[in-house]
Amino acid sequence: MLSNQSSDWVSRSLTSVWHPCTQMQHHESTPLIPVSHGRGAWLYGHDGRRYLDGISSWWVNLFGHANPRINAALRDQLDKLEHAMLAGFTHEPVIELSERLAALTGHRLGHAFYASDGASAVEIALKMSFHSWRNRGHAEKQEFVCLQGSYHGETIGALAVTDVALFKDAYGPLLRAAQTVMSPDARQARDGETAQDVARRAAQEVECLFEQKANKIAAIIVEPLVQCAAGMAMHDPLYLQLVRALCDRYGVHLILDEIAVGCGRTGTFFACEQAGIWPDFVTLSKGISGGYLPLSLVLTTDDVYQAFYSADVTRGFLHSHSYTGNPLACRAALATLDIFTEDDVLATNRAKAERITAALAPLREHARVKNFRQQGMIWAFDATDVDPAFSRRFFANATQQELLLRPIGSTVYLMPPYILSDDDIDLLAARTLAVFDQTIASQP
Ligand SMILES: Cc1ncc(COP(=O)(O)O)c(C=O)c1O
Repeated sequence: MLSNQSSDWVSRSLTSVWHPCTQMQHHESTPLIPVSHGRGAWLYGHDGRRYLDGISSWWVNLFGHANPRINAALRDQLDKLEHAMLAGFTHEPVIELSERLAALTGHRLGHAFYASDGASAVEIALKMSFHSWRNRGHAEKQEFVCLQGSYHGETIGALAVTDVALFKDAYGPLLRAAQTVMSPDARQARDGETAQDVARRAAQEVECLFEQKANKIAAIIVEPLVQCAAGMAMHDPLYLQLVRALCDRYGVHLILDEIAVGCGRTGTFFACEQAGIWPDFVTLSKGISGGYLPLSLVLTTDDVYQAFYSADVTRGFLHSHSYTGNPLACRAALATLDIFTEDDVLATNRAKAERITAALAPLREHARVKNFRQQGMIWAFDATDVDPAFSRRFFANATQQELLLRPIGSTVYLMPPYILSDDDIDLLAARTLAVFDQTIASQP
């Protein structure tokens, strides 16, 4: 009989599972943690230890693990329809979800195209942008623009508009070059400059590029308000307004990647609402299914949709994934949207965020912390003068203190599920401080 011992799960996993974003040899010194179950904000190990999920399991979980309302919706859906192909067929969950998402954009982005992972949604937005220009007689618009430090996923197309050397360099020969422009990251403010000044400076670079070659550019892709994988680099909403205006003036599509920042993470359901603008394409994934099932989608305008609508099959968007619009994933998303309405989540989060910010005050004041920042339900700060292994050492110390936290380089961040209790908040803040002090004190 197979054993349920924690150590057996570890050795079996290391033998047979190739873990993501991991140099597997690191597990010779960093233990793998086998999870047996989750409840609310907590994950529980097979060895009885528990971990407060301070980063929502890679930013996907909104309303806790094993959420009773999402579980009930999925159970109900399981007895009706687990999957049906979406070409030639349709079903209630995908229709209802598309209608509700369109309504959330005020029907500006009224057409939803589905995939599974975030990177696939990015691929779809890039392909749709290029193809819609081509269908309109602008086949020369083939280039894409991304921001410094951008991250849009790991597939070949998404990696081409990603600017993280660690993930990208090995695959350089396989990738189509994209244009990279200055990030509006407010930390780049020079003496006397505000975040808005940085936004203006960054937008000027976009303008210069568009002036030179907008006729060759299909789209610019931006992660609005917070470039998460860049180390929670935050910018002023003015940047989005300026880029929207430039896109309109020069005839370039604006793709907003809301895979991490959407679904209330920045304080509004879509981050772009804070700039009062809408893109030509928005990508969603991660939180949209409550963190339950792989679901991603692209919302786009009637204008783009009409560019494909034709008697000619080759003018259609002939892209597909087997699990496109999976009913279970869509039902999880509908249950997630229900929770947003029933619990007035955006308002509740505002109060919760204030409490979390107050609890983190000792870190904001810490002598080894700079650039403490917050946007909605995201908190981040940069540790000063740390060693290259800071992030791994912090992660290891955090697990000893019952926390799941994974700094990005020297940036420590919190992106918790929205359901933290007051006790969870106090524990998270106190232990993050303790782990930070411990990691700094033990620096080699
Ligand atoms: C902004 C952004 N875009 C795209 C992706 C890729 O999503 P996935 O990992 O589901 O492919 C991520 C993942 O972290 C992301 O943060």
